[in-house]
Amino acid sequence: MGETIERRILVTGALGQIGIELLNALSNKFGPESIVATDIRETDKLEDTGIRFLKLDVLDLEKLESLIKEFKINEVYHLAAILSAAGEKNPELCWKINMDGLLNVLELSRKYKFRIFTPSSIAVFGSDVGNLAFQNSPLNPSTIYGVTKVAGELISEYYHSVHGVDIRGLRYPGLISWKVMPGGGTTDYAVEIFHEAISSKKYTCFVEKDTRLPMMYMDDAIRATLQLMDAPSENLTIRGGYNLPSLNFTAEELSQKIQEKIPGFECAFVPDHRQEYANTWPDETDGTLSELEWGFKLEYDLDLMCTKMIESLSK
Ligand SMILES: NC(=O)c1ccc[n+]([C@@H]2O[C@H](COP(=O)([O-])OP(=O)(O)OC[C@H]3O[C@@H](n4cnc5c(N)ncnc54)[C@H](O)[C@@H]3O)[C@@H](O)[C@H]2O)c1
Repeated sequence: MGETIERRILVTGALGQIGIELLNALSNKFGPESIVATDIRETDKLEDTGIRFLKLDVLDLEKLESLIKEFKINEVYHLAAILSAAGEKNPELCWKINMDGLLNVLELSRKYKFRIFTPSSIAVFGSDVGNLAFQNSPLNPSTIYGVTKVAGELISEYYHSVHGVDIRGLRYPGLISWKVMPGGGTTDYAVEIFHEAISSKKYTCFVEKDTRLPMMYMDDAIRATLQLMDAPSENLTIRGGYNLPSLNFTAEELSQKIQEKIPGFECAFVPDHRQEYANTWPDETDGTLSELEWGFKLEYDLDLMCTKMIESLSK
């Protein structure tokens, strides 16, 4: 879709950790009037933004279709999902929302020809991958969330090759941001730690200190999303989920970096069940293909990310 075509955008799961930041970026780029934000929850948070908000359960195909028709939507950012730790608590619901929700969007795209963005995750990888995960590393996840993400990637590739659906996906690493608390993922500690460091100078981390996971600052993730959606279709060889380059640091390295900026901050490490999921994921992801095919590079390193998080949360 070239810059000259007017965007009429619908976002599902818009009130989540990524949704709120993406709405802001889309609004700055295309104007608030071009966006219909939806979520299963209600909100009055968007009232002053000029962005239209409507309640929508992505399992409600009829309502989703009526919104696509009413607003002549030509681009959907499908973010509604149940994440890893929440998914393990209710695997059936996780499968239903993550798979049936995506299928509803794919089927409607077949009919109305809109472009789709839907995120995959580093949770597609399992313990057979080793430290560095490549684009074509094996996909043997150990969580139901990871299973839905692998199935989501496969069904996206299928709808693209068989039905010509223009779908694009990214394997987001753990995302670190300050506007909205994360919604039940395994990498949530890397956000909680900043909130607690600022409010009480103490944090009990739910993974071991030597746990190293692929991470990214939200601004880089949003930039990657917009860049991928602007890329010429013919440049893209992957439809399910591109690996992205990632920051990689241990939980202890993160806490030490925060200590440099907030003297007196103390972090204890008391792993819970989420350690098990973390143990099966790689330390780092190789994002060579994203750079080659649509030019993505990270802008934030660990130091800059920590500075930004602390500055923003302290305001
Ligand atoms: N945040 C991360 O670190 C991360 C990492 C990798 C992938 N992702 C993926 O990015 C996407 C968005 O993640 P997020 O972090 O914003 O999640 P989140 O949990 O913060 O937000 C998800 C949103 O979906 C909504 N939702 C749940 N069920 C719904 C339904 N049936 N219909 C409509 N809305 C519903 C929730 O109310 C919530 O606002 C997901 O696909 C997730 O798997 C996130």
